[in-house]
Amino acid sequence: MSEYTQDKNYIYYENTNIPINKLNIRNLQKLEEEERKLLLEGYEYFHKNLSEETVFDETYFRELHRKTFNKLYDFAGKYRNVNISKGYSTFCQVRFLEQTSKEIFRNLAEENYLKDYSDNPKEEFAKKIAYYMCELIALHPFLELNGRIIRLFFDMIATYNGYEYIDYQAALKIKDGDNLFIQASIDCMTGNESQMYQIILNGLKKAE
Ligand SMILES: Nc1ncnc2c1ncn2[C@@H]1O[C@H](COP(=O)(O)OP(=O)(O)OP(=O)(O)O)[C@@H](O)[C@H]1O
Ligand SMILES: [Mg+2]
Repeated sequence: MSEYTQDKNYIYYENTNIPINKLNIRNLQKLEEEERKLLLEGYEYFHKNLSEETVFDETYFRELHRKTFNKLYDFAGKYRNVNISKGYSTFCQVRFLEQTSKEIFRNLAEENYLKDYSDNPKEEFAKKIAYYMCELIALHPFLELNGRIIRLFFDMIATYNGYEYIDYQAALKIKDGDNLFIQASIDCMTGNESQMYQIILNGLKKAE
């Protein structure tokens, strides 16, 4: 039993890839639809609540996940307590998760949470976002929905600085490949942010 709970699979209905959810939705398409709806509501809520006082700290980051997906998942807003991997990538070991997260957000705090980039060259802002995005991807603190919440997080920071939400499709017009973001994420694992930087740079556009 303890071995079973050490496995990420305990969040899925037996023999499926459908995460156990509060609405007991067993159909993947329906679940994805629900997730899309909640994410959209999350975007609206956090966008509406952005202000000069918003602090993009760890509490805020976790709140993005909790508030957005709490209707659906028990693990919303909670950091994982099992080791997980995707493909050949193993994300931050559980025993280092909390301290690594604190470190990332301490560094972010030292940069005033990237709140001072509205008048800086886009390249500088993109470089910073790519760096912290890579850090958070390698951290992968939640059991699921890391990618979407990390993107939501930086979309709020982008908005704060007078940019539109980052357009992740824009990079595809420059370079072909439907998995650019995943490929860039894999590179992040070895500390190579150059692909992520290109994606962010292409996707950043000042709001009118
Ligand atoms: N092989 C890999 N190595 C490193 N990082 C990966 C790999 N595959 C995916 N990722 C990263 O993990 C994220 C997916 O994590 P997770 O499934 O928790 O989030 P999600 O929101 O459900 O997914 P998605 O980002 O695809 O919408 C991707 O967005 C990408 O950044
Ligand atoms: Mg996922």
